[in-house]
Amino acid sequence: MPKIKIKKELLHTPKGTRDILSDEAKNWEFIETKAKEIASYYGFRQIRTPHLEKTELFTPVGEFTDIVEKQMYSFRTRGGDHLSLRPEGTIPIMRSYLQHGMNALPQPVMLYYSGSFFRHESPQRGRFREFGQFGLEMIGEEDAIADAIVIRVMTLILEELGLGQFTVHINTLGDQECRPIYRKELLNYYRRKVNYLCKDCKKRLKTNPLRLLDCVEEKCIELKKDAPQMIEYACDACRKHFREVFEFLDKLQIPYFLDHHLVRGLDYYTRTVFEIFYNPPVPLEEPKKAPIINTDLEEESVKTFPPQEVPTEEPPPMIVPERAAPLKLAIGSGGRYDQLSGTLSPKKIAGVGGALGIDRLVEIIIKSKIQIIKETHPKIFLIQLGPQGKQQSLVLLEEFRKAKMSVASALAKDSLKNQLRITNNLKVQYALILGQKEAIDGTIIVRDMASGAQETIDQSKLIDYFKKLKKNKKY
Ligand code: HAM
Repeated sequence: MPKIKIKKELLHTPKGTRDILSDEAKNWEFIETKAKEIASYYGFRQIRTPHLEKTELFTPVGEFTDIVEKQMYSFRTRGGDHLSLRPEGTIPIMRSYLQHGMNALPQPVMLYYSGSFFRHESPQRGRFREFGQFGLEMIGEEDAIADAIVIRVMTLILEELGLGQFTVHINTLGDQECRPIYRKELLNYYRRKVNYLCKDCKKRLKTNPLRLLDCVEEKCIELKKDAPQMIEYACDACRKHFREVFEFLDKLQIPYFLDHHLVRGLDYYTRTVFEIFYNPPVPLEEPKKAPIINTDLEEESVKTFPPQEVPTEEPPPMIVPERAAPLKLAIGSGGRYDQLSGTLSPKKIAGVGGALGIDRLVEIIIKSKIQIIKETHPKIFLIQLGPQGKQQSLVLLEEFRKAKMSVASALAKDSLKNQLRITNNLKVQYALILGQKEAIDGTIIVRDMASGAQETIDQSKLIDYFKKLKKNKKY
């Protein structure tokens, strides 16, 4: 055979992507199952949309956001279509809602989803180019209770995973009535400081001044501290909505922090926006190069449970941070998007949602050694010897599976010694030995590993034999 020269790089996943190996994958599976269970209880139903969408679906919404501008994987197909790998789930789900006329269903339509999303980010710890999200969308509901339900379900999932030490950072971004006034004020503020802004922010000043608040450059973080706050310009309706949201959060005893400069990386948000941060009881191992995401809050200034006072008519007091916080990544985020449907169709449909970043949850669970999965060990091990023993063991394993009894085996191993070693390592209660002789005469040896006692029984009676042991609590 000719020698093939294999490039070393071929044996690596593409930059920013990774294999989720079995030990980690079981955590993913557990998180997704738990999240689905809680979301379903609250009335959310599953939706699956394609990984590919038309590029144009995203562009009118976020012409100037980094995600749309710089981070989408877009390409032209052989047929000439312009497609993109989905960078997030909300826009595709609103597309699906409109495409399938879900506005004719009883409102709100409550949907959950779980899967991969793709962004061409500079990869660093906790930030990948393919990453998993578990998301919720509640479409067709304007009331603040919907915002609270989304946050409740997301935080419940965290609590049930043993990640109860979180803070929800929350802000309002106003609506089409009051946000332009705020935008103007922000523009006035930053125009006076234009010489101190980073290159990207100078551009943002022209395209999307709100995103200046989200800049992670140190000098821009400094400037943000004195920047105007949306709450000061919010109209009565937006203030009322915002107040109602955190009144619900108070009622639910969800720890939150009023983060008056919180904006989000996606442009479709109106009114409520939030990000959830994990506050580890013991600091997790710090990354060498700190990953950065929108926050300029001092750790101590973050209010955790008990919740904050119920605010009066006046805007809630601002807790002014003095210096930048240790940089942290959000484990979940979301907000309200009442104007999004208007960019895709003439229909005006309110909506609110959020998504948890599964990669980040798994990382915390592994780093903090949180045992979310109860390990179960098999109590029976099937040892097979000889070709007929191996064949017959396949039949028996299937019978055990149908009887919902778990039996371990090592069918690829042939020697008794190797199989006995595995049996001992697994510390099983019973070993079943199926050799050539037993395979021919239809029997099997059952060995009690603790006492060493063994008996030979008919294979046809094997399942009943273990059922009886189970009934007598001997297995
Ligand atoms: P997002 O903030 O872009 O929002 O992402 C939601 C969560 O996904 C983040 O809080 C983070 O935990 C995780 N995440 C985002 N980017 C990455 C990445 N590159 N690597 C690892 N994890 C990441 C959205 O996507 C909105 N669609 C959420 C939403 C739903 N808003 C309303 N409804």
